[in-house]
Amino acid sequence: MGTAQSNPVSPDFAQGISIDDLSDGRMLEGHVGEESVLLVRRGNDFFAIGATCSHYGGPLAEGLVVEDTVRCPWHHACFSLRTGEALHAPALSPVACWRVERHDDSIFVRHKKELSEPSRASGAAPAAVSPARIVIVGGGAAGFAAAEKLRRERYQGSVVMLSGEEAPPVDRPNLSKDYLAGKALEDWIPLRPDSFYSENGIDLRLDTNVASINARAREVVLGDGTRVAYDRLLLATGAEPVRLSIPGANLPHVRMLRSLADCRAIIERSRTARRAVVLGASFIGLEAAAALRARDIDVRVVAPEKRPMERVLGSQMGDFVRALHEEHGVVFHLGETATGIEDKRVTLSGGGTLDADLVVVGIGVRPRIALAESAGLALDRGVIADACLETSAPGIFAAGDIARWPDPHSGDNIRVEHWVVAQRQGQTAALNMLGRREKFIAVPFFWSQHYDVPINYVGHAEKWDELTIDGDVMARDCLLRYKRNRRVLAVASIYRDVESLKAEVAIERPATT
Ligand SMILES: Cc1cc2nc3c(=O)[nH]c(=O)nc-3n(C[C@H](O)[C@H](O)[C@H](O)COP(=O)(O)OP(=O)(O)OC[C@H]3O[C@@H](n4cnc5c(N)ncnc54)[C@H](O)[C@@H]3O)c2cc1C
Ligand code: FES
Repeated sequence: MGTAQSNPVSPDFAQGISIDDLSDGRMLEGHVGEESVLLVRRGNDFFAIGATCSHYGGPLAEGLVVEDTVRCPWHHACFSLRTGEALHAPALSPVACWRVERHDDSIFVRHKKELSEPSRASGAAPAAVSPARIVIVGGGAAGFAAAEKLRRERYQGSVVMLSGEEAPPVDRPNLSKDYLAGKALEDWIPLRPDSFYSENGIDLRLDTNVASINARAREVVLGDGTRVAYDRLLLATGAEPVRLSIPGANLPHVRMLRSLADCRAIIERSRTARRAVVLGASFIGLEAAAALRARDIDVRVVAPEKRPMERVLGSQMGDFVRALHEEHGVVFHLGETATGIEDKRVTLSGGGTLDADLVVVGIGVRPRIALAESAGLALDRGVIADACLETSAPGIFAAGDIARWPDPHSGDNIRVEHWVVAQRQGQTAALNMLGRREKFIAVPFFWSQHYDVPINYVGHAEKWDELTIDGDVMARDCLLRYKRNRRVLAVASIYRDVESLKAEVAIERPATT
């Protein structure tokens, strides 16, 4: 993943190209030596950056140029054309940035510019008044992105990151996709190598449970009684899977999927399992079903709804997702729930039974708000945060799956469970802990992958009164618009990446102006 391949027929920018070959606003992919390079013209300015997204290798030339940035077609990361910096998650690392030389009517790209890595040593923190101690509770998407951003901003103070997990922050979305399917390399999973934390002065404490917060004394109390003082605190405790409460729910072959440890436990079971039952037709449940099919395990999906994903994506997409899984051999038992599990058998509400030597439970998640609640923070089906992601307690911020914030695009206070939103909120919270007052205005985005079919979704539509479809859902070439009072609130798409990016820009514009 993420490796730039030079295309032998692509232009060699070191040899130069004519200015006339690149019209205003256009992108051209070429190469310099072995490296793929993207050349972009904006008026009389020319920019050259690496052509391959640093997240999962998306082809930036197939993305969208927005002012002096380019957005990735796959998961909507955004890079500066001027510096190569990753401006919007999910990409966290920059792409290479090249010097562009102009001689008469030709453009040449020959030399790379130096990249600046996040480091405490590389300069002073820009904020006038920096807090001395920042504590982050959570070693997931939001917590990691916040810590990384603090160091990228050259924050010099102490960063303590407390995580209940055994592993340093991981690429959680992959745990229900390629990694579970056995198709991902181990080194795709950590967001950064273990050495990153000590090299960047991030005091990452794993397997550490935060038991309570004393907001008045400005300290968190760990499970073993240790106190950790803070000047600014970020709560990024994420969500936890809803637990099954039927007989047999605690049997060893009944597993949930949230952490790397959970995923490894499922992989271990799947080595000998022949039949799996997935409880829940949620995104995670169905992605897990696809991954288990890739391991050639017989998969049954049991869920109470009539159609998978209908509540979020509508009936057409729901029918498509079901048909896609059936094409790959998954058998659905919809309109049913499990009432009991034995060693090798799951009993259904309709009276039937299914053989299973592995049961994966994906029946939803709940925000982990116990800490916030015990600290007396204002709650509303999540932790209430203002536009700058500060909670009702000054100095305490919230980001990710727990945060309910005023979304300027829908006009509602919303809480979502999306990887990219959690990362971007972590980054915004980091800036605001340093004294900035940046509003969180990013348009929500998520993706889901089933076999070779990616579904991208921008915006937020809990309810809609009109759904229009361009293209053909069953043919895997479509763009669905979810509207309320004629306004587009959200767009879902399959293989319409540029249109999805354009929809994102269209939704974000009114809020930024
Ligand atoms: C298998 C899987 C696949 C997914 N796939 C996608 C996808 O394809 N696309 C998408 O948009 N989203 C996806 N998601 C959702 C996405 O991963 C979440 O929205 C995101 O991780 C939320 O980030 P977060 O930082 O809020 O929480 P998390 O990433 O869950 O991190 C929370 C952290 O807080 C820690 N914590 C909680 N309480 C305490 C405590 N008291 N003390 C110490 N530590 C504590 C936890 O141990 C954890 O480290 C997926 C989720 C899962 C589980
Ligand atoms: S590959 Fe570019 S954002 Fe994921």
